Amino acid sequence: MDSNVTRRRPIFVWGPPAAGKSTLSAELARALGRRRFDTDDEIARREGAPVREVFLREREWGFRRIEAAVVREMLASDDGRVVSLGGGALLDAALRREALDGAWVIALEASPRELYSRIAREPDARPLLQGGDESRVRALLAQRGSAYLEAHGRIDASGSPDEVLARALEALSDAERARVVAVGLGERTYTVRFSPLDSLAKHVEGLRPSPSATIAATDRNVLGAPGVASTIAALAPRATVTFDGDGDREKTLQGAARLWDAALEASLDRKGIFCAIGGGVVTDLAGFAASTLLRGVRFVSAPTTVLSMADASVGGKTGVDHARGKNLIGAFHQPSLVLCDTRTLETLPLVERRSGVAEIAKIAAIADEPLFTALEREAPSLARGDIDAIDRCLPEAVRRKARVVSEDEREEGPRAALNFGHTLGHAIETAAGYTMAHGLCVALGMRAAVRIATTLGAPASEGERIEALLDRLELPRSLPSALDRSLVLDALARDKKRADNSLRFVLCPRVGAFELRAVSLDVALCALASLEHASRR
Ligand code: GLY
Repeated sequence: MDSNVTRRRPIFVWGPPAAGKSTLSAELARALGRRRFDTDDEIARREGAPVREVFLREREWGFRRIEAAVVREMLASDDGRVVSLGGGALLDAALRREALDGAWVIALEASPRELYSRIAREPDARPLLQGGDESRVRALLAQRGSAYLEAHGRIDASGSPDEVLARALEALSDAERARVVAVGLGERTYTVRFSPLDSLAKHVEGLRPSPSATIAATDRNVLGAPGVASTIAALAPRATVTFDGDGDREKTLQGAARLWDAALEASLDRKGIFCAIGGGVVTDLAGFAASTLLRGVRFVSAPTTVLSMADASVGGKTGVDHARGKNLIGAFHQPSLVLCDTRTLETLPLVERRSGVAEIAKIAAIADEPLFTALEREAPSLARGDIDAIDRCLPEAVRRKARVVSEDEREEGPRAALNFGHTLGHAIETAAGYTMAHGLCVALGMRAAVRIATTLGAPASEGERIEALLDRLELPRSLPSALDRSLVLDALARDKKRADNSLRFVLCPRVGAFELRAVSLDVALCALASLEHASRR
């Protein structure tokens, strides 16, 4: 796949001033046989003056602007170059997210004392810390520390250059092998790994602070999937709570209470971790139980459905259902780690695989044209539920979702775009009494939204392209004949996103773009009516 994950991404070495970025980047470039760049050197070359002078002349704001242009140029490269970044180069959140998206970011970590002793040896090299003492370094870390946590790999900067290099090489090869996606959220940053489930216990153990104990939550349906039972054993949980994966019955406060009871019975403390291995019911429940137990403990998710890998497990939406609706009780609580092993999909029925592929198509349609093109190419295999094809597409979908989440964690803006296909999709799902797989309902909702966009003036060819992909993925074209249409209308009428005589829709006027729009009920109902027959319009 000509994707961002598999292209030769640049390697960004960053961290606080004096952490050893220049030395490490030179060593890395040598060890990997790659070109090496230094953003400060690039700035000096372009501006024809030492970087310190540029900083004094342009002030911090002007300097950062020049630096950002250099960083973006490095991001556009595809020769796998190693880039040593200035200590403030990624302080701008938007630029940092671009870097997480397009480069491998390796952050060096050192204590304020260690940094200060290095700075004191080279006083002229750090304009921001000149004349300061250790407290100045502490203040700088307090101000920037959470930005330095947003990385694919964080390594200890202490020890000899060879030791630091060995750590960096290990972090890099791990990031590349596990196709690690970093969800950049400051102190709540976490990574999504695509790696064997049997490595879960090792990664949980490696979390900081080290967990005091774990509680496992799992789904009876996946206990037979490759690696699940042995992974639970390796986690050595103080308790294991097994669900049936029956959302209607279990994704409730009673379901969460089973986890709270088990954790309290096992005396889990605030350094304890809930580890969920299963589909969306289990991961949503465990996330919610973790968000509330002892005012919040960590949770780790190992999703075992395509739907959950592509969507539910990333972004921290946790919760339970209420008699009045799905997911009405919940919290944003980000996981500390997500590990996806696509081998666990072997026991997943085809319809569930397709349901998850619909969510991959959703994110591609609204936000990622190259991924959409890749899905078009992979469509026959994806329609067959081919796990290798799913495995090739998933990291890209997750990477794209991670970017959306890091830009709008609490869905106050662009994250709402992830509801593409969901306005009508949810109504269909509710009307079908949750007997129809979520992604299949969303596929119908996407078709309706695409038709609405065309009615409102978007190019018909774009809508046709999206529907053609849904066709090739063998996702439904029409409402099931047994579905009671009046129940769909009832559900639409109750929609939370409804205002006056209109409904809020996410529209996709062209592949890779979205628009949030209030759509009149008439237009929405017309689109719904067009789903009566398999033929398009
Ligand atoms: N499932 C949509 C979201 O995570 O925002």
